[in-house]
Amino acid sequence: MSGFAAWMQGVQQAMENDLSALLPAAGQAPQRLHAAMRYALLGGGKRVRPLLVFAAGQLFDTEPRLLTRSAAALEMLHAYSLVHDDMPCMDDDILRRGKPTVHVAFDEATALLVGDALQAQAFLVLAEAAGDTALPSPRLVQMLALLATAAGSMGMCGGQAIDLDSVGQALSQAQLERMHQLKTGALLRAAVLLGASGGKQLDAEQTAALDAYADAIGLAFQVVDDVLDATADADTLGKTAGKDAANHKPTYVSILGLEESRLLAEKLRQQAHAALAPFGGKAQRLRELADLIVKRKA
Ligand code: IPE
Ligand code: IPE
Ligand code: MG
Ligand code: MG
Ligand code: MG
Repeated sequence: MSGFAAWMQGVQQAMENDLSALLPAAGQAPQRLHAAMRYALLGGGKRVRPLLVFAAGQLFDTEPRLLTRSAAALEMLHAYSLVHDDMPCMDDDILRRGKPTVHVAFDEATALLVGDALQAQAFLVLAEAAGDTALPSPRLVQMLALLATAAGSMGMCGGQAIDLDSVGQALSQAQLERMHQLKTGALLRAAVLLGASGGKQLDAEQTAALDAYADAIGLAFQVVDDVLDATADADTLGKTAGKDAANHKPTYVSILGLEESRLLAEKLRQQAHAALAPFGGKAQRLRELADLIVKRKA
């Protein structure tokens, strides 16, 4: 196993244990809600956002306990976004991470509450870093604000709103890019910035470099998601394939075509690498993650 593969497995395994510990136990009342939250969050997913947090943490030697809390908070927000994204009022999907979606395995009202409660738990987990790390509280409050902006109407939720409004429409490439940057890019960007910002204060050049990296991989991630939706099968993806065309979603594939979309993803991968130049060898894991995001098969 390569150094990168071993590192990734280590982060994924540790994250699984940490997420389990940071959620209420399944036996804790209300038990059905807690069981459904654990169903949505544990035992699946690539954990790309946590991987980005830990990779960015290497740039400035961010405290590991803070990285764990940032990563867990992001993965909780992400899992909530998937639970709601799959509901009949949004994409109406029955398969996620190789299992029936939460509204299918439980019911719609439970799925709604799972999303709500995971979002609240995300902010709790990061806020409680106050008693657990050496980071001064004002810095922690900045991190909470960054997370809120990434999740809200100017971030992921805003992108989802544009997505739903765009069904059946032919968006321009600029509109599509905006939608993707918000619905998917915002949380990936937050992962990079939270991982880095728990360490020493970044200067303007470092902030600009991280922003450029995060923008490139954030967009690339959803371009590749669109390509995989059109080209991979459900067994590989762990979610229904061909759903974007069936739901008349404007995607990079529907607007640029497959080949142009693949070329764009590769261009974004190169942009991500170029952006990391100021960090030298410390950014090795971030480079490898950009490669993973673009070359992944699921
Ligand atoms: C899927 O995200 C939804 C998008 C934002 C494109 P991931 O591909 O990261 O899903 P998991 O976490 O691995 O299941
Ligand atoms: C979802 O985008 C982005 C989210 C904020 C959840 P998609 O709708 O393309 O994600 P998948 O393909 O269902 O995972
Ligand atoms: Mg969707
Ligand atoms: Mg979807
Ligand atoms: Mg998709």
